[in-house]
Amino acid sequence: MNTYVKIFMVASVCVALAGVVIQEVIERHKAEITKILNENPSLKVASQTAHELFPVFKFLRPVFTYFPSLRKVLSFLLPPPESTPTTASTLPPATPATPTNTKKAKERLFTPQQLKAYDGKDASKGPYLAILGRVYNVRKGKKHYGPGGGYEFFSGRDASRAYVSGDFTEAGLIDDVSGLSSTDYIGLDEWVKFYDTDYKYVGKLIGRYYDENGEPTLYYYDTQRWISQAFTEKENDNQEKKMFPPCNSEWNPETGSRLWCTKRSGGIERDWVGVPRKLFMPGQSKSRCACVKNFGAPSHDPKRINHDRGDLDHPNLQEYPKCEPDQPECYVKLD
Ligand code: HEM
Repeated sequence: MNTYVKIFMVASVCVALAGVVIQEVIERHKAEITKILNENPSLKVASQTAHELFPVFKFLRPVFTYFPSLRKVLSFLLPPPESTPTTASTLPPATPATPTNTKKAKERLFTPQQLKAYDGKDASKGPYLAILGRVYNVRKGKKHYGPGGGYEFFSGRDASRAYVSGDFTEAGLIDDVSGLSSTDYIGLDEWVKFYDTDYKYVGKLIGRYYDENGEPTLYYYDTQRWISQAFTEKENDNQEKKMFPPCNSEWNPETGSRLWCTKRSGGIERDWVGVPRKLFMPGQSKSRCACVKNFGAPSHDPKRINHDRGDLDHPNLQEYPKCEPDQPECYVKLD
């Protein structure tokens, strides 16, 4: 065999193994990595970008799921993890949802059939419910989850989607959470935190989120990514609202729409009033009214003290026609 081909093959194997080791290290030190990423927003963005740019990472993660013996080999090289990562918000980080009752708890693996037996009908069992594959004993809430309770349909199964869709029909009581909105993913994460805090975590449900060894599935990681992206979007949204607080608005059949800015408009407390401008979102034709700081340095470059136009020159802004550009109030026909 040609020497170059041999070198190439050896190099490929080394790169693949290095990838697997990196994945295992990440897996074992999720909590620390999560903390570091949360403390360094730029690192967090870089990590998310890396995951998006290199889908191979995504496929490397479950290598251990399919080749558990690799994990055993690695156990000789790496110290065992302190605890099993179990929270819905561990990787990548969304909000630091630290489950309080899951870490060293004895956990059990349930098949869907086994969990079904805990639907509350048998008074000696549960009720238990699952959300994102995590099973909780909700016995202390049996007035909600037990027979005749308003939320009994959650018992004995994983109906994750219904927690945010509000669709409590059989078709809606499902564990598939793909294609939800950002608000829904954040809602789901909040439900997991709720059960972590208020109820006893008992184990994992084998199926969509965990395999028969209790290892997270690819779908589990997808869900974590969706939740994490939702939090990133929310964070970006908050940043944007801080820079461009929404205007107050009211409509009157005689005068049309009145848009105006105050030091509290859009619910954003600040020490400036600003002037109304149309703010366009990149890639969208829709705009919203934003109060724009019209003095001092631009927000993205606070050291530019010789610039006294605030954020007025931001490329996504447009003046409202027939409005005084330096006044905090204007009357317009809204789009
Ligand atoms: C997506 C829609 C909804 C979902 C998934 C949902 C889910 C739940 C769950 C799981 C509980 C039990 C919480 C626990 O374990 O303590 C609960 C309690 C409750 N829910 Fe909802 N809910 C929804 C919508 C609503 C709406 C629209 C209302 C009111 C109009 C409502 C009123 C209540 C009340 C009052 C309780 C507490 C009952 C009590 O403590 O006795 N829920 N909800």
